[in-house]
Amino acid sequence: MSGTVESLKWSVDSDGIIGHLIESQNGTLSAAVKELIMNLVDKGSTKCEITLRDDYFSVVDNGIGFVDREDVENHFGCFGKRHEEGDAVYGRFRIGRGQIMSLAKVTWHSHEFKMTADYKKNSGGYELEVNQNEYVDGCTVYGQLYNVLTSWDFKNTVDEIKTFTKYMDVEVVLNGSILNSSITDVKWDYEDDDVMIKWEPKRQGCGVFVYSKGVFVKEISSYIYGLDSDVVTKKTLVLNMARNEIAESDPTWGKITTLLKAEAVRRAKHSKRKISEAQRLSLINQIICGDYPLSEAMDLKLFKDSRGVTFSFSAFKDRLFPITMSPNNHPLADHIASSKSATVFDVRELSRWGVTCCEEFLNLLADLFMSEMALCDKQTRRDSGYYLRRIREIRVVAYEKLCKGISSDLKILKTKELSDRDKAARNAIQCAANIMSKRISNILNINVHKRKILIGESQIAHGWTDGETYIAISRDALSFLDAGRYGMNQMALLLLHEYCHDESDVGSHEHAEYFFSKYHDLTMTMDKSAELIGHVASSLEGDYRTQLSKSLLSVPKFCDADPYAMSSDVFILNGKGRLSPFVKKLLECGREANLLDYNKKGKRLTLVSKTSKHFPLVEFLSNMMAEDGIDLPFFDYDSASARIVNNASSLDHHEHMDLIREEYKASVGILIEGWAYEHGHCPKAACEVINSLFSRYSCGAQHLKQVILNDSKTDVAYSESVGEHYKTPVFETDKIKVDYYMPTNIIGERWNCTVSRDELASSKAERVQFVVNSLKNVIGVLKDNDEKRKVLELITSASFVDSIVD
Ligand SMILES: Nc1ncnc2c1ncn2[C@@H]1O[C@H](COP(=O)(O)OP(=O)(O)OP(=O)(O)O)[C@@H](O)[C@H]1O
Ligand SMILES: [Mg+2]
Repeated sequence: MSGTVESLKWSVDSDGIIGHLIESQNGTLSAAVKELIMNLVDKGSTKCEITLRDDYFSVVDNGIGFVDREDVENHFGCFGKRHEEGDAVYGRFRIGRGQIMSLAKVTWHSHEFKMTADYKKNSGGYELEVNQNEYVDGCTVYGQLYNVLTSWDFKNTVDEIKTFTKYMDVEVVLNGSILNSSITDVKWDYEDDDVMIKWEPKRQGCGVFVYSKGVFVKEISSYIYGLDSDVVTKKTLVLNMARNEIAESDPTWGKITTLLKAEAVRRAKHSKRKISEAQRLSLINQIICGDYPLSEAMDLKLFKDSRGVTFSFSAFKDRLFPITMSPNNHPLADHIASSKSATVFDVRELSRWGVTCCEEFLNLLADLFMSEMALCDKQTRRDSGYYLRRIREIRVVAYEKLCKGISSDLKILKTKELSDRDKAARNAIQCAANIMSKRISNILNINVHKRKILIGESQIAHGWTDGETYIAISRDALSFLDAGRYGMNQMALLLLHEYCHDESDVGSHEHAEYFFSKYHDLTMTMDKSAELIGHVASSLEGDYRTQLSKSLLSVPKFCDADPYAMSSDVFILNGKGRLSPFVKKLLECGREANLLDYNKKGKRLTLVSKTSKHFPLVEFLSNMMAEDGIDLPFFDYDSASARIVNNASSLDHHEHMDLIREEYKASVGILIEGWAYEHGHCPKAACEVINSLFSRYSCGAQHLKQVILNDSKTDVAYSESVGEHYKTPVFETDKIKVDYYMPTNIIGERWNCTVSRDELASSKAERVQFVVNSLKNVIGVLKDNDEKRKVLELITSASFVDSIVD
């Protein structure tokens, strides 16, 4: 037996549905005000004056208002009444006015009618007052907000109203300021019968703002089209009731999306390889959907590995190594990618391609080329076929397998595990790190604490930090310091990188937004006195050399690699750490002539030579002597030549000239020596300066260093330039290298050994004595008994003595 079937009509619980309409639309004050503005445009208003306070608002229009009681009851008093086709530009659902009712006690005052809705007190209806004495033109809507706006909400509301009404064809004034300009004044980049588009590249990353007949609807993330623009339709779009979504079926919207996609592709092609992240993601979407063929994007850097390095399909297909998928921010991923063991895609990147593993990814790429092959011409088909084969050749390796061989341990080494060279490097890096923390504090205007430098061992990281107290540098990375300026810069960058981590980077290589902004601010400073990397790198270079020479270790080769580079030398002063007036004067002269700079802090004198070419020490010296009333005679070539001509000896011209020069030098030397003694300068040092008159090359910074070292009044202990030019080690153990040809004056200072280099060269006895004395002192310097024993063994061996003494 079949049951009875009835046809029934829907019914509505009017209280319930009206409650939803009032309470459950958009919910923000700006959106509610937007509704009021759309209504007044529908009623022929040309102007809209808004007043907004934290607890009150009003919207005044000059439209036709509510014309009679019937209009009030039918259109204000009734929700959901259908519109006649074409009777309104925006009005559609007859519910929009409900939005403001949930936020305020509101009155619509138009002509003699005042309708007040106080939803909180009377959710079921409104009060109508008819009073001819309070007649207004148009319609004024005003109300007391149920919740007072915070200053934050107030600002947002103002900003949003501004955005919402940007392209509306009505003048909107908010608290006395005009918010929008006439739409006819805008210069559109694209316009047809349906839509106007303005590209806004400067708004980078903000995305596409869609306006339905001038009223803001929604913002489309820049990741969808990789574009930033305002799109304004000429007709209203078909929207949902909250007016923040567009119906997919709307033909104008279909047309707009096609235009945006085409523009995205056009721009990507135009920008060749360089595409923004937003463009990349937008193109990936188009490629996956089949809207844009991958074969046309061969050179665009669409792929991104776990390090954030982007590359094109052209590069990808030629890679000989396999691919793998890593978890996001996995600490070993960087290492695997950098060592080219595999191309590492992280989970996040693969999800952007809509896949969950490498196999699916390769299948996707293969499918894309296959579908392209089905559609295109012979040549493209051939290309796609080739790409397809390449994809099939790409191997996939399990990430765990790649990780197996790599230890992710980050080990901190104990001091006793460090070599002297490691220690020297650590101490130098510590000085550099201290300078860095100070500079960072100054640049960012915050107190950045010093972090202790530790040396560690790691297969996966050059450096790591707990974000607060220490920075560990892997022992492998210390070799940066022996790699010249590049290495110093690299180490400075590594330190900066670690200083930018405010939290521990152990266990993750993720860099949060704050990291990048800090890194950016610190590297982009244009204030010379706050410059970071160059400053830290050059201090590091000086400190490293000082630390090495303190430990009697050889300085790296790069030190004299470029004779014209700026070089800095550090002298550690003895005793009270004084410089003699003589040396001071020479330094000042050099500084005035902009040939050098120096800086003396306590017992530390740093000499920076800006040139290693000839610099006129002689002139400085003769000026100094002139101040004391002694004029140095010039070497007069003309009279010297005349003397040679007159002299009928068997010597040739050159030999003659040499003799005359020697004579001249001796006479000048007497003058200088007398002056130097009198003024407490080292005569030898002063004479050296004048001797340089005859030797262009020794008259540069190198020469000045020797003068500083020789000047008896200057308390110089040693210079870090030890060994710079004399590289043959005489003996060597694990920890120490001693250079036989070190300038003897330095050796003399350090090891109380008074012997000149010439004497060493000429006398075997002197040489033996020198070596023995030096080595005794070296052994004295050594703290480690093992080390002492090794040196002793070494120097007592017959082969060693032979090698030195001969
Ligand atoms: N400022 C105004 N001047 C004159 N009439 C108005 C004004 N504001 C609203 N109305 C009348 O009130 C009606 C209801 O407005 P409401 O915003 O609720 O609906 P709608 O604009 O018709 O449609 P929608 O829900 O799509 O906004 C309007 O259709 C209009 O007739
Ligand atoms: Mg409306």
